[in-house]
Amino acid sequence: MRKQIAAANWKMNLTYQQGEKLLDDILDTKIKLASHQLTIFAVPYPYLLLTRSEVEEGTNYFPAAQNCHHKKSGAYTGEISVEMLHSLNIKYCVVGHSERRDYNGETNSMLADKVNLCFENFITPIFCCGEPLHIREAGSQNDFVATQLRESLFHLEPQVIKNIIIAYEPIWAIGTGKTASTEQAQEIHKYLRSVLAKQYGEAVADEIPILYGGSVKANNAKELFSCPDVDGGLVGGASLVAADFIEIIKALKK
Ligand code: PGA
Repeated sequence: MRKQIAAANWKMNLTYQQGEKLLDDILDTKIKLASHQLTIFAVPYPYLLLTRSEVEEGTNYFPAAQNCHHKKSGAYTGEISVEMLHSLNIKYCVVGHSERRDYNGETNSMLADKVNLCFENFITPIFCCGEPLHIREAGSQNDFVATQLRESLFHLEPQVIKNIIIAYEPIWAIGTGKTASTEQAQEIHKYLRSVLAKQYGEAVADEIPILYGGSVKANNAKELFSCPDVDGGLVGGASLVAADFIEIIKALKK
């Protein structure tokens, strides 16, 4: 059965103390996850160890990094390598978030390097794709996201890519309060799965979770997650409010 995932993306928000309280408030409710359900907290680097110690081992709750560097190691002051994340026993890392593509000039080929390093270090990339508004308005979103997958992922072997998590995040829906309709989400998720199937076959495509991101809220999560090809969400704003994120975790498909 394909994994269902509620992933929080805190971005550059919350102090250490606020982060600790938020984790406590969420984890104290002890929402029982089924074996195919995961909750992931993509927290700022300085909170990774805190998050690792707050989530109980052997449960389906995990910390994730929000980024990693595309080089293995070296003279890159201020950067964090995948090997460093691995040495902290971190198992997930967001790769290619649209904010990093936009503000840090991350290209599809740089992201291919990051994905490779993640897999070499036993870290599952949460690979983000998604189109800006003008591409959606021109009706070219399918080609746009297919190119993102092709240029960053399609060098991977089937037995490797089947372990990835993809997050489709239309840029026009991120932090704007504008959510893709369930029809829009299902349509493009189904398309992404068909692109994966064409390259790797149905069995591999069927295994890859595709999360939706972009103004997922407590009151729309259930409807979005009910789409057959939407396997959970990558959640920014609403993941900063315990009560809201708890509802989003509970909205995962059974
Ligand atoms: P949002 O952010 O939920 O605040 O729209 C989603 C994301 O950027 O991952």
